[in-house]
Amino acid sequence: MAEERLDVSEAQIASHWKEEGYYPPSSKFVAQANMTDEKIYDRMALENVPDCFKEYADLLDWYKYWDEILDTSDAPCYKWFKGGLINASYNCIDRHLAKNRNKTAIHFVPELEEERVQHVTYQELWVRVNEFTALLQDFCGLKAGDRVTLHMPMTAELPITMLALCRIGVIHSQVFGGFSGKACADRIVDSQSEVLITMDGYYRGGKIMDHKIKANEACDEAAKQGQTVKKVLIWQRHPGKYSAETPMVEGRDFIVNDLLKNYYGKRVEPVKMPAEAPLFLMYTSGTTGKPKGCQHGTGGYLAYVTATSKYVQDIHPEDVYWCMADIGWITGHSYIVYGPLALAASSVIYEGIPTYPDAGRCWRIAQDLGVNIFHTAPTAIRALRKVGPDEPAKYDYYFKHMTTVGEPIEPEVWKWYYEVVGKGKAAIVDTWWQTETGGFLCSTLPGIKAMKPGSAGPGMPGIHPIILDDDGNEVPSGEGKAGNICIQNPWPGMFQTIWGDRDRFVSNYFKRYCKDPNSKDWRDWPYLTGDAAIMAEDGYVRILGRIDDVINVSGHRLGTKELESAALVVEEVAEAAVVPIKHEIKGVEPDMFIALKPGYEPSEEIIAKVQKALIDEIGPIAKARKVWIVPDMPKTRSGKIMRRILAAISNNTDVGDTMTLANPEIVEAIQEMAKKFDKK
Ligand code: PRX
Repeated sequence: MAEERLDVSEAQIASHWKEEGYYPPSSKFVAQANMTDEKIYDRMALENVPDCFKEYADLLDWYKYWDEILDTSDAPCYKWFKGGLINASYNCIDRHLAKNRNKTAIHFVPELEEERVQHVTYQELWVRVNEFTALLQDFCGLKAGDRVTLHMPMTAELPITMLALCRIGVIHSQVFGGFSGKACADRIVDSQSEVLITMDGYYRGGKIMDHKIKANEACDEAAKQGQTVKKVLIWQRHPGKYSAETPMVEGRDFIVNDLLKNYYGKRVEPVKMPAEAPLFLMYTSGTTGKPKGCQHGTGGYLAYVTATSKYVQDIHPEDVYWCMADIGWITGHSYIVYGPLALAASSVIYEGIPTYPDAGRCWRIAQDLGVNIFHTAPTAIRALRKVGPDEPAKYDYYFKHMTTVGEPIEPEVWKWYYEVVGKGKAAIVDTWWQTETGGFLCSTLPGIKAMKPGSAGPGMPGIHPIILDDDGNEVPSGEGKAGNICIQNPWPGMFQTIWGDRDRFVSNYFKRYCKDPNSKDWRDWPYLTGDAAIMAEDGYVRILGRIDDVINVSGHRLGTKELESAALVVEEVAEAAVVPIKHEIKGVEPDMFIALKPGYEPSEEIIAKVQKALIDEIGPIAKARKVWIVPDMPKTRSGKIMRRILAAISNNTDVGDTMTLANPEIVEAIQEMAKKFDKK
C-alpha cells in the first residue's frame, strides 16, 4: 500500500496551502507607474512571440538593429537579435551623460557607519570605467571573447570592473565573494580565465577580512587543475593602503590603484559587440555535479533586464533603488547593476550584514539615502522580522515599491513586509525566476495586477508558463494540483547554454518534455524550470519549491514551504524549516525545525502549538515527527537555510561539508540536541 502511494506523481496530488485574498496597489502608486497598459499582455501573447520582444529591445541604444529577431537554427540554443550590434557598458553609462552626468549612479554604503558613503556620479563612473578598461586592454592584453574571473566583495569597484570588461567585450564571471578560494578555482578552471580580479579585504560584522588569501588559494588550486592565472589584479578596499596580511606574489599580483596612475585621462570607445556575444557567465549549482556556467548573451539579456526593471521594479531615473542581494548572484547582476543602470537610476550597494551594528541599519540607510524602491529575499525579511519586528516604524523613509525574490514567501511574513516594512503603502512584487532565466518569469506588473500573498503572480508579458505532469499533460489551472512548471517559449533573457557543455544544457533543461530532438521550432522545446508549482484560476502561480523540496507523506505531497508557512502562524516562531525523514511505511515524514523570536524561551507548549498549527492549517497528515527548537538555522553566507544539513542530522547521516556556512557552529549544537532526542 505504502509503495503504491509513493508511485503517485507529485503533479497528481493536491496542495493544502490556502489561497489568500488580493491587495490592490494604491492609486498613488498606479498614478506614477511605468506600466499601466493592460494591453501589454495581448501584445506579448504566445502568438506574438518572438516579434513582441522588439518592444523591450527598443529601450536600448543599438549601433545597428538586428537582421533576425530570433535564430532557432541551433535550437534550443537560441540567438536573440542576431546581426544587431550593441554595447552594455555604453547603455549603462555613456548614453546617460547628456541628461544625467551629475546624478549618482552608485551609492556605496560601507559596513562601518563611521566610514562615509561614496556617491559615484554617472560622469565619475564613466571616467573610472574608461581608465580601468584602458588598463585591462593595455596591461593585461584582454580582448573580446576572453574570460576573466572576478572574486570581489560588494563595493563600487565591482560594477566598475564588470562595466569595464564588457566595454571591450570581455566575458566576466563574478564568483560570490563569500565563496572559498577552492570554489573560485573551480570556476577559473572551467572558464579558462587567465586573469583574476579581486580586492584585498572587506568588512563583515565590523571586522576587515583578509580576502586576498583566497586569491592565492584559488591560483594554487587552479594551477593544480592545469589552469595558470597569469595576472591577479587587486583593488584596495582603502585606496593607497594594503589591507590584507597575505603577501603579494611577485610578477603575478598587481595593485590596481598603482597601475591606474598610468591610465589617467584615458578613454576607450565601447566595442560594437554582436547582440548574441556572451556578456557574462554565472555559475550555479545543480543538485549534483560541478557548478554550471550559465552563459548570458549581450543584447537579449540587457533588453530583458532593462524592461523588467522598468515595468516590474518600476524604476524611473529619479528613483533611489536598493536591492540587498549580492552581485555575486544573478539578482545582483540583473537588478543591482545592469537593469537599474541601463535606466539611469541610482543603485545602492551595501557592503555588509543587514543587521550590523543593529537591527535598525537597513532602515537608517533607506532613510538617509532616500531609498524609495527596496528589493530583498524572504530569508532577509524573516531575519529582520526576528531581530527587530518594530524597527521600521522608528525611521522616516518611504518605499513606493518592494520586491521579494528567491524563495516562496509565507503569507505571514509577506504581511509583516507589507504592513511594517512597507508601512501599508508600498506595492509588492514577488518575483520568481532563476540564474538561468536572466530576469523575472512570474510576477505581478505592479501598476496593473493586485498582489496576492504567497503567490508570485502570472507569467510576465511574453513569458508563457505551463504546468505539466510527469507524462507531459497540462495540469489545468484552478484545481489546486501541482506539477512541473515549464516555460513554453524562448525569451531574450534566457541563458544561451552552459559554458562548454551544450549536452548538459539540453539534457538538464529541455530533454524531459522535448517533442522532437531534431526540431528547429521553439514550440517543441519547453523549458523545464525544475520547480513544482500550482496555478490558480486567475493564472497566478504559487511556487512550492524545487522538485526535490516537495515531500511525499503517505502519498500526500506537501510542499515543505506549506508546512513552514503553517508553523509561522504561531506567534513565537521566527523561522521554520522542514526536512523529510525516511519512514518505512509512510515513505517520509516531516521534521520541523523552528527558531524563536527574541524574548521567547523554548517550551513544550510552543511545540504543541506548532503541531496544532500544522494539523489546523493543513491536516493531520502534516504533523511533524518532531519539532526541534533550535537557536538558529544553519545558513549559507548568502542567507539560505541549508535544509540538506538539517536533513542529514535528522536522518542520522553525514552532514558533509559545512565550510560554506555562515554559522558552522550551529551544526554541532543541533547535533547535540539530536543525540539527546535519540536516547529518549
Ligand atoms: O526554486 C526557485 C527559487 O529559487 C530557484 C532559483 O534559484 P537561483 O538560481 O539561485 O536564483 C535566485 C534568484 C532568482 C528557483 O528555481 N525561487 C526564486 N524566486 C522565487 C523562488 N521560489 C519561490 N518564489 C520566488 N519568488
